[in-house]
Amino acid sequence: MLTVKNIHQYYGGSHILRDVSFEARLGKVTVLLGRNGVGKTTLLKSLMGLVPIKSGSIEFDGAPIHKRTPYERARAGMGFVPQGREIFARLTVEENLRMGLAYKSGSTPVPPELYELFPVLKQMLNRRGGDLSGGQQQQLAIARALAPKPKLLILDEPTEGIQPSIIKDIGRVIRMLADRGDMAIVLCEQYYDFAQELADDYLVMERGEVIARGLGKDMEAQGVRQLVAI
Ligand SMILES: Nc1ncnc2c1ncn2[C@@H]1O[C@H](COP(=O)(O)OP(=O)(O)OP(=O)(O)O)[C@@H](O)[C@H]1O
Ligand SMILES: [Mg+2]
Repeated sequence: MLTVKNIHQYYGGSHILRDVSFEARLGKVTVLLGRNGVGKTTLLKSLMGLVPIKSGSIEFDGAPIHKRTPYERARAGMGFVPQGREIFARLTVEENLRMGLAYKSGSTPVPPELYELFPVLKQMLNRRGGDLSGGQQQQLAIARALAPKPKLLILDEPTEGIQPSIIKDIGRVIRMLADRGDMAIVLCEQYYDFAQELADDYLVMERGEVIARGLGKDMEAQGVRQLVAI
């Protein structure tokens, strides 16, 4: 579904991504692990086109997309849940969900299924985004990304600062979405246990480079917990 080949990225003179390559498979969760500041968010933003890559290629759903704008990538079926959630605080829950449909035609309804995945959102449709708890905002950010029915869902540290019961709910939703088989999921995480539970494939980054990779079921045996321990 997604094939990333040899990408390099710089902020000014700093070389942030060094020859990163990986694939994300349909129906699978690909987990990207790494400590603070190793370049995880930069990689995800590069996938979405929010920062330009210097060299390399990104192929999505059979077509090269690395020269396309973020808007075009979203239209092509890439959904992004940014680190820190970026909920519109003054808009209601329903309006936030509609923002996820901004590039669809005006009459496209919010898929009712989102309220089954995240029942709390249905109860809070008219609440302002900024009045939700961190966990509820995270669920809203995921639902907003799912609203246009993406083929690839990219999540940047969805467990950051969130209470355990909601982390469990989010994990269940991610597993269910992958198991349906029509979506690829790329999940960036620092919370090892959550990552390991969900990973079909994993990658570990350090200073902008992929230093380890393999199948999720082998993570523990391959010592990934130690690699990302703080
Ligand atoms: N806009 C920017 N301009 C310059 N340097 C940046 C910018 N954004 C990030 N960096 C630097 O690039 C490196 C990678 O940052 P990035 O945010 O991708 O890391 P990360 O792995 O997502 O970290 P975290 O786990 O804390 O979210 C860091 O050294 C960071 O300081
Ligand atoms: Mg980050």
